[in-house]
Amino acid sequence: MSMNTEFILSEARRVLSANRQEGVSRWNGKRFSFVCPSLSSYPFQWFWDSAFHAIALMHLNADLAKQELQCLLQAAQPDGFIPHMVLWQEQHQRAAEAEFKITLAHPYFTATTQPPVLARAIECVFETTRDFAWLEEVLGPTVCFFKWLQTIRDPDNDFLIAIVQPDESGVDVSPKFDALLGIDYRRPDTVYSAWHSGMDRLFAIYRDSRTESRKLLQLDAFNYEDVMFNSIYADGLLRLAGLLRTAQYPEAEAAEFELWSARTRDALIRKCWDEQRSAFWDLSGSDEQPQKILTSSCLFPLILKGMDSNIVRRLVNEHLLNEAEFWLPFPIPSVAANEPSFDPAFVTRAIFRGPSWVNINWYLYWGLRQYGYDDIGGELVTRTLNMIERGGMCECFDPYTAEGFGAADFGWTALIIDLIEAERNRISKPQKARTGALKPCREAGEEIVSEEYGRQIRPCWLVVQPQGHQRHGLDDSKAILEAPTKKV
Ligand code: GLC
Repeated sequence: MSMNTEFILSEARRVLSANRQEGVSRWNGKRFSFVCPSLSSYPFQWFWDSAFHAIALMHLNADLAKQELQCLLQAAQPDGFIPHMVLWQEQHQRAAEAEFKITLAHPYFTATTQPPVLARAIECVFETTRDFAWLEEVLGPTVCFFKWLQTIRDPDNDFLIAIVQPDESGVDVSPKFDALLGIDYRRPDTVYSAWHSGMDRLFAIYRDSRTESRKLLQLDAFNYEDVMFNSIYADGLLRLAGLLRTAQYPEAEAAEFELWSARTRDALIRKCWDEQRSAFWDLSGSDEQPQKILTSSCLFPLILKGMDSNIVRRLVNEHLLNEAEFWLPFPIPSVAANEPSFDPAFVTRAIFRGPSWVNINWYLYWGLRQYGYDDIGGELVTRTLNMIERGGMCECFDPYTAEGFGAADFGWTALIIDLIEAERNRISKPQKARTGALKPCREAGEEIVSEEYGRQIRPCWLVVQPQGHQRHGLDDSKAILEAPTKKV
């Protein structure tokens, strides 16, 4: 890791502390205390930002981590909906409406939601605190929110949640939305204004239906099954199932969440996986047209448990480690480098069109670890650390130079604290081959003699089987060698 690890940790702590917003809201007389994404650009409470902040805060102050999520959940609505922005502080509201392309459901919160990172954050906080009373308190509204997503946002019952606006994806101006919003990436100077115009057109279509959540999708103006949103959702359902059992909810309810998670994972494979391109595509419209723009979303099913090992291996080898796409000096870029719309240097001034983001790296790191790609995960953390060292605590970074862009002193960049701690724990523990885990051979062993091929081969992965045998595979998925070689 970097020589400057301690400095980066202190910077992350500084931002989490400096960005705190506290007060009593005139909205409902409730006290608020949370970390805003950036004092200069984003003073409000954002849904998935707060979940990431809680994960980082866990390493500093468990009470503040718990409070971050409690504060957010004060905005949960009786029908289960949780807004993507809560505008606690009245003094900023007028500026917010002028500055952000948002639709408010209420003067104090938006009509849109964001990826449900909440379940993952609750799990992280509970695992450390073991505070059952807190868990009980936060589980109720969280369960309701996941049920709201199922009931309102999956009208075609295919187990994939649909979002109604680009900003619900969390990656607002990603080029994957260009066709829908009428954006021409070949004119970089117009991208940002074209996005605003596209959003205005969408708002006009929605104007008379805003209060009827179900109707928005029927209009089919933006009916979008996003791979990253659904991966985070399926991951959240599974983690909630575990938390429900811990909190002694009825077993049937926990089992149902587990089942929904598996169904969403399977739907992602069935409907979004492109066998030829080895990528998961978002689906747009009621006719579910795949949006074939290679972005970091296409890799997100890697975060899910129980993924087909062949798919995991192909995502990692063909895309994540591909130096022409995502494995750049400071990965993971939000858009693959070989996409024509790729904008690494933020020329468009529009977000999620090329620069790297720490929240994406955080999720993919844990996905890599889950499948035994520990050395690649470790390298990702090293590069993320170096990126922050060069660019500062910014919102996003040039994947070639690490120059920082977007908001300064950005909250979720502090997720680096969790990544550093994870790596410290991993390195300090004796390494043991994990049963059933895919391991890249750089770590697991170099060349082996293949009985089947009658020569030395360099396999790109291996699986340690329960009997202690290793199963090796070559880069080409068709040339899999299944020979019980040496015992581990
Ligand atoms: C931008 C991002 C969104 C984030 C918000 C606050 O709108 O697209 O994902 O939640 O900023 O950081």
